This record gives sequence, C-alpha cells and structure tokens, in this order.
Amino acid sequence: MPNSIVLGTGRSVPARSVPNREFEAVMDTTDEWIRTRTGIESRHWISPGETGVELGRRAAVAALEMAGIGATDLDAIVYATITPDHFLPGNGVFVQRALGANSIPAIDIRQQCSGFVYALAIADGFIKAGVYRRVLVVGQEVQSTRMDVSTRGRHTAVLFADGAGAVVLGPCDDPQRGILGYDLHTDGRLAEKLWVDEPGAIRIPTIDQGRYQEGRYFLEMDGKEVYRHATQRMPESVQTCLGKLNLTPADISLLIPHQANLRISEAVQKGLGLSDAQVYNNIQRYGNTTAATIPIALDECVRASRIEPGDLVVLTAFGSGFAWGTVALRW
Ligand code: UT7
Repeated sequence: MPNSIVLGTGRSVPARSVPNREFEAVMDTTDEWIRTRTGIESRHWISPGETGVELGRRAAVAALEMAGIGATDLDAIVYATITPDHFLPGNGVFVQRALGANSIPAIDIRQQCSGFVYALAIADGFIKAGVYRRVLVVGQEVQSTRMDVSTRGRHTAVLFADGAGAVVLGPCDDPQRGILGYDLHTDGRLAEKLWVDEPGAIRIPTIDQGRYQEGRYFLEMDGKEVYRHATQRMPESVQTCLGKLNLTPADISLLIPHQANLRISEAVQKGLGLSDAQVYNNIQRYGNTTAATIPIALDECVRASRIEPGDLVVLTAFGSGFAWGTVALRW
C-alpha cells in the first residue's frame, strides 16, 4: 500500500484586508479586546464580485504548479467547505470546471473547522487503496458574508474570515514518508454549541424575514464551551494519533493547530509541552478561515522553508459538530 505525500501546496485570500479598527465603527468593540482575547489583528474578507470558487481555484493552481502537474493529471478532488457559493451543487464541481480538469470525481465535504483534516484522511484512503493517484484537497471558506456585523454578533464577526488553501497528494512507496496516520472524532451531543440553525430544509417557509431579523441565519456560538473542548480535544487527539505511531509530542517538528484563537493554540502547545519553535500560528493576519486555516498555514510554512524533508508535521483541528481530529505526516 503506498503512502500519500504532499506534492504541492497553495493558498489564496481576498485582496481586502480588514483591520480590527474597522469593527470599532460598526459595533461595540475595540482593537484591544480583539487582540487580547483572540490574537487577531486583521483578516481578509471578500469584496462584491469575488467568489469562494475563485479563491479555491487560485489555491489549487498554486498547488498544482508546485507539484509540477496539470489539472488534467488529477484523479479526484476532495473539497472541504461549509460556506459554498451556492446551495447546490458544492464548490468542488465549480473548481473542477474552472481548472479544466477531466470528468473526475469532486467530492464536497463539510466537517466545519476540521474539514481539511477530514479531507486529507479521505484522500489518503483513496491513494492507499490504489483507487486514485493524484488527489487535490482544498479547504475554502467565505465566512464574512454570513456574519452579523453588529454588536449582537461581535463575539463571532471579529473571528471569522475568508480564504483558501490546497494541497496535491500523490502516492509514495517509502513507508516512512507521507501521511503516517490520523485520528478523527465527532460528538453530535454538542452540535448546537456552534451552529447556524437556519435556513434549513425542514423550515416552512425556508426563508422567513422575521427569523432572519431574529438572527437565526447567523452563526451562533457558545464561545466558552467551544474554547473548553477545543483546548482539551486537540492535545488529546494529537497524543492518540502519535501514540498509534509509537511517536510522542517531543518528536514533532511542526504542529499546525486550527487557527480559531491564539489563546487556544497556546493552550494546545502547553498541553503537549511543545516549544514555540514547534508550533506555527498565523491567526494574527488571517482570523479563523475554518476549513482553510490549516492549508493556508501549511503553504506559508512550505514556501518559507519552515518544513524540511524528514520533518514530522502534525495538523490538528477542532470545531462545530463537535468534530475534531489530527493528521501526522513525515515530510
Ligand atoms: O473554530 C472553532 C470555533 N471557534 C472557537 O474555537 C472560538 C472559541 N471561543 C473563543 O475563542 C472565545 O470564547 C471568544 C473569543 C469567542 C470570547 O472570548 P471570552 O474570553 O470567552 O469572552 P466571553 O464570551 O466570556 O465574553 C466576555 C465579554 C462579554 O461581555 P459581558 O457579558 O462580560 O458584559 C461579551 O459580550 O466580552 C464581550 N464580548 C466582546 N466585547 C468586545 C464578546 N465579543 C466582544 C467583542 N468586543 N468583539
């Protein structure tokens, strides 16, 4: 059975950068509150006319270029997003079309903040089984248009942002390299702690002005509860994933935690006993781009030569569902 290795990475964010100060004009918040509680300084939000598909396409093109292959060499696409441009079909087929790929399967998954980790595991399964050789994995979100940009929504609007990251995976016969293992979980008992209730298909009528005004179409989050679980589940999952591989946190060259809050990343680092050099954070410049945080950070690290051949790279995420998980790769 071949292992899956990363052949190329890419990222794309909207041109518009939104500094914390912009929120001060439209809601009761301060730059200081946002920096202290979350670590975020600015984030990228789309402007009218920009699309999530275009962000995904650009990230994919960059990953394909680094991999040295064309879109027609791809065998499958696994696309993680909870903010598709349209209700259906998912963004995967639009990116398949925009890339000019063959009529390969484009599989859309959700899994919220853990979307990219789950997508990697799915792509790895195809490659290991010998079903597909070259798989494009994308994590992409446009969260900004779903935010309540008022004091009512200040606990979420300042956190979430837009962007895309992608990797191209391919097979490798060296069992010491590539995706070594993963650990995935959900706990649906806590689904309503972080969710968007409506517009759901069970609602009659599906769209209702009154329920929109009540805020039912915006993200609702019990921040403290999410924080508490995130800081426990991510270290736990990293330990489980590494334990199955007879590795320990001391073996980690680079941990990229999902970028939800710098304080959460710091707690995860502390929980695992890692040094600053072992952990990468970029939430300061991007905010929480949900399924895109990990591939954006991974691409930054690869292009800055922060990852060298032989490094143990660990990716861990936690979010709505609750869903969480970890992937360990030997570069
Ligand atoms: O990707 C996974 C999903 N998300 C997460 O992982 C996020 C997890 N949670 C968190 O990161 C934190 O809970 C938050 C950053 C969301 C909130 O930080 P906190 O330290 O837990 O604050 P809090 O919710 O306890 O709120 C403290 C106060 C409240 O005011 P009162 O009730 O004490 O008067 C909030 O209304 O801060 C207020 N507040 C704000 N104030 C200024 C909430 N948001 C803001 C804001 N600006 N943007």
